[in-house]
Amino acid sequence: MNKFVGKIKSSIFTKLLLVIIMTGIIVIALIGGFLKYYTHKMKPPFQKNAIHYTNYIIREIGTPPDTIKALEISQDLSLQIRFESPDFKWTTNEKLISFKNFDEKNSYENENIKIDFDEGVYYLTLQQDIGRYLFAFDFRESAASSELLSVFLIFLLTLVFTAAYLLIKRILKQINLLNEGVKQVAGGNLKYQVAVTNPDELGKLSESFNSMTRRIGEMIRSKERLLLDVSHELRSPLTRIKVALEFVEESQSKESVKEDISDVEKMITEILETERLNSDHGKLILTKTNVLELIKEVCRDLQNKHPGIKPASVPESVFLNIDRDRIKTVLKNVLENSLKYSKPESLPMEISINDKEKSLVIIIKDNGFGIAEEELPFIFEPFYRVDKSRSKETGGYGLGMSLCKKIMEAHGGSIEIKSELNAGTTVYLKFTRYINYAAHS
Ligand SMILES: Nc1ncnc2c1ncn2[C@@H]1O[C@H](COP(=O)(O)OP(=O)(O)OP(=O)(O)O)[C@@H](O)[C@H]1O
Ligand SMILES: [Mg+2]
Repeated sequence: MNKFVGKIKSSIFTKLLLVIIMTGIIVIALIGGFLKYYTHKMKPPFQKNAIHYTNYIIREIGTPPDTIKALEISQDLSLQIRFESPDFKWTTNEKLISFKNFDEKNSYENENIKIDFDEGVYYLTLQQDIGRYLFAFDFRESAASSELLSVFLIFLLTLVFTAAYLLIKRILKQINLLNEGVKQVAGGNLKYQVAVTNPDELGKLSESFNSMTRRIGEMIRSKERLLLDVSHELRSPLTRIKVALEFVEESQSKESVKEDISDVEKMITEILETERLNSDHGKLILTKTNVLELIKEVCRDLQNKHPGIKPASVPESVFLNIDRDRIKTVLKNVLENSLKYSKPESLPMEISINDKEKSLVIIIKDNGFGIAEEELPFIFEPFYRVDKSRSKETGGYGLGMSLCKKIMEAHGGSIEIKSELNAGTTVYLKFTRYINYAAHS
């Protein structure tokens, strides 16, 4: 029941359908009620007319009836007649109900005139001086056709509701398309355009949504362009500063300037490298590489940094067809992060490999600061850094992870991160195996 209510609450489609069904039921009930009231109101004048009418017939056929005339009238008007007096009994149809049965079924105060409507036949008995008449007006034929009419009506109603159902579904299709568009754009696909099926309000909303995403895409692209241009322009002055710095006397401040310059250089390399991966001339240079060797190489470079790296219990060699330098960049950034964002008392980080038939996952686990859950979705955004003040000491510009993601995706793999604040972070570098098969071919 709760599930049903929940479904109604969460679906405009179901709500609209319910409104239409309820409106239909109310309209039908109102029309039915009105008709019932109307026929009820019509009953007394109709009865008066019926009595009057039968009196005319009696006058025409006489009492006792002129049977030939009575038979003629009976056939003409689809009317059955029974007459009974102490010395004359006559009827147009032997099957017509007898006075005895009729009186047993109906008890009325007025003995002279008795009226009954039973199964489509309208009965009326009139007491005359020398006998008693029973008239039966047969409405069964028209009653049968009215039954047919109600079946037809139900069929028509079903048809109308089905048409309404399909029409609402069609009108609301645009909402589903729009919903998919919002999901795609939220997932970062700014190139997605919602298909517009109708020029109505929802169609217009979808068009506005499309032009909004186009505009945002253009804005982001021009910002990226600016960033790339600035990075390019900064390279030569930086080289000149580095050359000039070599002629300066050794001092504390010279060292610190050198460190700053190397930081900025790293940032520029990361920005340009990310862009290169998007362009044609920056495609991967795949070689069959022993991933274990590569990990060891990176670990060697970071050997002396706190809290250290626990020797990995991994197989001797695992080969993958990868761009060696770029995967080295990924490993370096992830390992550096784990070392940078660790506490003085943190345990050494661990590296393990999950080697499966279809995939290979390198798992890097640390016991450092960890990342709050709400920050996790933004880690792969360029220039995103969690704790600005803490990050100041560690250096870096928040570009490492975004570059790692680009490189892993270019390899047909993925990078995932799980983290718990103050407990530690685990990074999963996932490679799909078909690249490995390509290495052996
Ligand atoms: N292992 C980790 N433990 C805790 N925080 C992490 C870890 N890895 C990444 N982070 C957080 O994610 C942010 C982004 O990481 P990223 O590698 O992109 O940038 P960075 O290391 O700050 O700078 P860069 O890599 O450009 O030198 C970091 O600033 C840090 O706050
Ligand atoms: Mg980093």
